[in-house]
Amino acid sequence: MKILVTGGCGFIGSNFIKYILSEVEDVKVINLDKKTYAGRGENLKHMGIEISERYEFVNGDICDEKLVQDVFSGFRPDIVFNFAAESHVDRSIDTRTPFVTTNILGTHVLLEAAIRNKTSLFFQISTDEVYGSLSNEDKSCLEIDAKHPRSTYSATKSAAEDLVLAAFETHGLPVIISRSANNYGDYQYPEKLLPLFITNLIDKRKVPLMWSEENPGLNIRDWLHVEDNCRAIWLLAKKGSIGEVYNIPGGNERTNIWMTKTILSCFGYGKEMIELVSHRKGHDFRYSIDGTKLKNLGFCYLHSDLEKELPQVVQWYRDNENWWRPLK
Ligand SMILES: NC(=O)c1ccc[n+]([C@@H]2O[C@H](COP(=O)([O-])OP(=O)(O)OC[C@H]3O[C@@H](n4cnc5c(N)ncnc54)[C@H](O)[C@@H]3O)[C@@H](O)[C@H]2O)c1
Repeated sequence: MKILVTGGCGFIGSNFIKYILSEVEDVKVINLDKKTYAGRGENLKHMGIEISERYEFVNGDICDEKLVQDVFSGFRPDIVFNFAAESHVDRSIDTRTPFVTTNILGTHVLLEAAIRNKTSLFFQISTDEVYGSLSNEDKSCLEIDAKHPRSTYSATKSAAEDLVLAAFETHGLPVIISRSANNYGDYQYPEKLLPLFITNLIDKRKVPLMWSEENPGLNIRDWLHVEDNCRAIWLLAKKGSIGEVYNIPGGNERTNIWMTKTILSCFGYGKEMIELVSHRKGHDFRYSIDGTKLKNLGFCYLHSDLEKELPQVVQWYRDNENWWRPLK
């Protein structure tokens, strides 16, 4: 089986390549990645994955039509997993164009090639953020619920989903979309909350907590271990129904203040190490997704116990300073 992974030098993409190469015997993976600030070939090297008969790397942009067509016609992938994206919401507030270009145009270019080359499955990696901001009283979102994206990041991810579903409806391209919760784990770029906090504390620096009198760190995120996300995506590629969307929740909704205190306690620190900062513009309050559809396909979590997992993630960043230090 031949698999094209886009964005395979990023956090989830690299973990996914590692998972697929260890899980599936008869597989060849090609990784197409532009190597933006967030895309690090070092991730795969650090994981022990080198160029081989089973793994190839192409340094390029998913918006480059000619390159994408060359990759499709040369490699003829059976499945495309589109992880490539501009992924950091904070950056999407002030620097919006790369989000529109990569997340929307890039997905369009890949879809065109997939339609032309009659790819067997186009798997789009999306996010729970497309549902928009929930309150504490709202029920967890089902896949059929309306989307209400509120940031440039989530709006572009939502638009990409629409293009993917249009390719299915209009051209019969077999597609599946996953919407996952907040991922955490090894190899996450230290601009995201958990690795930012952990690496700051290793350096005995304070952690920035978004805070106001009315909302003292009460925003809620659902935390999903990256390995469980990779396992769920692969299960969906094998057992999911074509043309469908699947939520991948973490089952771990926590306030940001809870997460902050828990990480601080892993280091023996208290609130003296918190630096209060203003909420970002348009800060979504809560994300929450219902995972019944995924569970019905037989998915079981390996890393569902967040309290048990967090100290292990902290330890990974302690043990792998050589990986993250150049990024700070
Ligand atoms: N991190 C999360 O918690 C989370 C949650 C839900 C969904 N997602 C989605 O999962 C996917 C992966 O997220 P991540 O956290 O690994 O992101 P990341 O920022 O760590 O990695 C993104 C990768 O895409 C590559 N890339 C960016 N623009 C490109 C382009 N034009 N052409 C080719 N490659 C390009 C980057 O070089 C990088 O390797 C994204 O689609 C994101 O929207 C992430």
